[in-house]
Amino acid sequence: MADESILIIGANSGIAGSLIENFLDKKTVGKILAVSRSMPKNQSFHKNENIEWLLSDYTEHSIDQIVSTLKTREFIIDKVIICNGALHSSLFSPEKRVEDIELQNLDAVMKINAFIPMLWVKNLKPLIRKSDRCSITVFSARIGSIQDNGKGGWYAYRASKAALNMLMKTASIEFRRESAEISFLLFHPGTTDTYLSQPFQKRMADSAIFQTDFVAKQLIIILDNLVYDGEIKFADWKGETIAW
Ligand SMILES: NC(=O)c1ccc[n+]([C@@H]2O[C@H](COP(=O)([O-])OP(=O)(O)OC[C@H]3O[C@@H](n4cnc5c(N)ncnc54)[C@H](OP(=O)(O)O)[C@@H]3O)[C@@H](O)[C@H]2O)c1
Repeated sequence: MADESILIIGANSGIAGSLIENFLDKKTVGKILAVSRSMPKNQSFHKNENIEWLLSDYTEHSIDQIVSTLKTREFIIDKVIICNGALHSSLFSPEKRVEDIELQNLDAVMKINAFIPMLWVKNLKPLIRKSDRCSITVFSARIGSIQDNGKGGWYAYRASKAALNMLMKTASIEFRRESAEISFLLFHPGTTDTYLSQPFQKRMADSAIFQTDFVAKQLIIILDNLVYDGEIKFADWKGETIAW
């Protein structure tokens, strides 16, 4: 039965676009709620009656407004997927050396990669606790693994994903203590051909860069097989665990 509801935040991400396309093909999925700063890049999403596209500037006020609307509608969410993440923009790029560090860039990257996902989890908590089929997936990155950091560099991005991991691990412990059986997944997609990775693809073999459709399909398989066991997972596109 097509009764599964999916909430995708950061829905204009390259990977989110492919996730939406794949969820639309899935017989179990009824409704897709998509949240983004701007209207969908994929024109076909505009007309699809199974997608509701909501705009947010990701301030706490805007997040709270969206969540309040969903509460009023008694909307139950089965899967939350938070895709937000930035490595570079017109204003910042990843630091190679300590000397490249600038406070405003650290602030910006931390906010997008760690704090905005946390604000969503905070505000969604009353809504998703009612559903024991629920999972929360947040896009992390292997580079956020402290143990795996052999190369250095990319200070803000690394630190923000490590902070994101700690924030989500802490939330998952709280949810477990409150008997909310919600699976948490911190997902590493692998290097994927999107705006985020484009400046860094030059020295990589084409075969080492995934297409968004492949990554979306991998994540959906992982989510379909996710069984609640009270432990947050930090895993890659193969479903293999990544060291914290
Ligand atoms: N591509 C890779 O190789 C790779 C590797 C490891 C991890 N990841 C992670 O995968 C996730 C999806 O990335 P992607 O590759 O699909 O990248 P992308 O196409 O560049 O998408 C960027 C995402 O970040 C959000 N975003 C960008 N700037 C923002 C801002 N100023 N404030 C709030 N949100 C902002 C966008 O939200 P809107 O919908 O509002 O625009 C969108 O969801 C990210 O968390 C990324 O860190 C990607």
